[in-house]
Amino acid sequence: MTNVSKKRVFSGVQPTANLHLGNYLGAIRRFVELQNEPATECIYCVVDLHAITVPQDPEKLRAQTREVAAAYLAAGVDPVRSVIFVQSNVSAHAELAWILNCVARMGWLERMTQFKDKAGKNAERSSVGLFDYPVLMAADILTYKATHVPVGDDQKQHLELSRDIAARFNTDFKVDGFFPLPEPIIGGPAARVMNLQDGTKKMSKSDPADNSRINLTDSVDVMVKKIKKAKTDTLPMPAHVDELKSRPEVDNLVSIYAALSGQTKEQVVAEFVGAGFGVFKPRLADLAVEALGPTMTSMATYLADPAQIDAILRAGADRANAIAQPILKDTKAAVGFWS
Ligand code: TYM
Repeated sequence: MTNVSKKRVFSGVQPTANLHLGNYLGAIRRFVELQNEPATECIYCVVDLHAITVPQDPEKLRAQTREVAAAYLAAGVDPVRSVIFVQSNVSAHAELAWILNCVARMGWLERMTQFKDKAGKNAERSSVGLFDYPVLMAADILTYKATHVPVGDDQKQHLELSRDIAARFNTDFKVDGFFPLPEPIIGGPAARVMNLQDGTKKMSKSDPADNSRINLTDSVDVMVKKIKKAKTDTLPMPAHVDELKSRPEVDNLVSIYAALSGQTKEQVVAEFVGAGFGVFKPRLADLAVEALGPTMTSMATYLADPAQIDAILRAGADRANAIAQPILKDTKAAVGFWS
């Protein structure tokens, strides 16, 4: 049996357009922090199988796949210390997803709020894949027997489902402890970065309004403009974090400032108490330029050399396959497949 003794981290980002500040602060920046922890093995995937749960243009999908890889690299994921690869290059994900489809229950998936949000009133016309999305996510994680999964807050329910699926597999096939129950790593002020024009909605790749988010492919000038145009209100900066509850847009900007400066929201509020946005926003813009500028520039450099990205992704797929195959073999044996 394949066993994992140290901490094994797995996470993924979809190659859908408009990678943004939420993806960076909620997930990608965490990937780098975890890679730098001792006795931690990190596996980071570009989840193209997930992306096709809604229609994608094939050429754009290929380009966006490189874009996510470039974001990982530019943010500081080291392709030697961590494994960076594309999901469709490792067939174990799809194979395990099928097995787990037969473990997960319809009722569990019917409770998933993200499907309800994404499908809206059109559930009948959604792809079966969109409904099944969280089972593939469980397969991604369990293909490597990952123990820890860094994600934004919106993935919490999916991770709970992954734990339920792992536990159910272990019970159904009488293989106690075969799949570890993956621990979510969610938290900090940027677990849920909100829309810059509407603080009640999360920052999202699919929002038609470009000024609702900071894209990792934006120029530094565009980023500064978007921060200056971000919605606020007419009151000065609050004296206490509790006041942020009724001021969602301000709460969001304070959270972004906290995440970028490595402070708590309390510290940021204490620093700016009573200031106007004419003071706070330029300070936030300067901080964003300092914290994100180098990553944005480096991303553009990587994107100018797609051959280098492709070579990294190919080598990563070989390494991912080498970890996944023995686990898949043991899984098939537990199920009772002939070999
Ligand atoms: P995706 O591509 O939608 O999002 C990638 C990561 O970014 C986080 N995120 C945010 N964090 C903070 N604020 C936001 N506004 C925000 N928007 C997105 C997401 O939580 C995610 O961590 N289903 C996953 C991809 C996936 C995956 C996996 C993750 C597929 N298989 C296995 C972990 C483990 C997703 O939502 O991707």
